[in-house]
Amino acid sequence: MNQQKMIEETKEWVKKQLLNEKTGHDWYHIKRVTEQAVEIATIEGANPLIVTLAALTHDLIDDKVVRSEEEGLRNVQSWLRSIGTTESDLRHIIQIITTMSFKGGTNKPVTTLEAQVVQDADRLDAIGAIGVARTFIYAGKKGDPMYDPALSIRETLSLDEYRNGQSSAVGHFYEKLLKLKDLMNTNEGKKRAHKRHEFLENFLEQFLHEWGSNE
Ligand code: ADP
Ligand code: NI
Repeated sequence: MNQQKMIEETKEWVKKQLLNEKTGHDWYHIKRVTEQAVEIATIEGANPLIVTLAALTHDLIDDKVVRSEEEGLRNVQSWLRSIGTTESDLRHIIQIITTMSFKGGTNKPVTTLEAQVVQDADRLDAIGAIGVARTFIYAGKKGDPMYDPALSIRETLSLDEYRNGQSSAVGHFYEKLLKLKDLMNTNEGKKRAHKRHEFLENFLEQFLHEWGSNE
């Protein structure tokens, strides 16, 4: 199978699995991340096939999306084999999608350029206007308030507060979103994060202004 066909078939395979997904890992998230990853890969000189296949499959091992990470991993592996991915590309793609996800504190830094590119693209989708929208929809689904002045949101939440589910959409900006700009791997990723980060800051400033006093 040629590379274009491998990519097209993988798109259809992923789309089928995510069309009814409502946790913020829907097909359009994958589409945005993949498009952005391919653009960054071109500028940074990363392998486009590996970047594209990793971006397309990166959320299919998340236990929010599939029953278990192991099952997700097995499915992705057998899919990639079935379209003729070489064993060394397969190993690289699996390594990317298993190490890149940002889960408070447990994430190892990614090592290859391709992994850095895909992680940057995923992080870009968590900031800017889309990032704001995803955060509020996620918080709503979780039952969190949009803002809770009783939480000291200007500080990172303590682990206990976090475990107790004491979080809010605005709190998530401080826990994670405002930190992403400094965690970008590639130069192009940093450039793209800059504008989106500014948008987050302006949004928060306006939000807190409209909220009024914290009483
Ligand atoms: P990804 O693996 O694509 O980075 P996550 O599962 O971490 O996605 O989160 C999906 C979306 O929901 C992201 O935009 C993220 O910022 C947002 N999100 C994650 N956790 C929370 C939370 N506790 N409150 C509000 N938004 C959240
Ligand atoms: Ni993602």
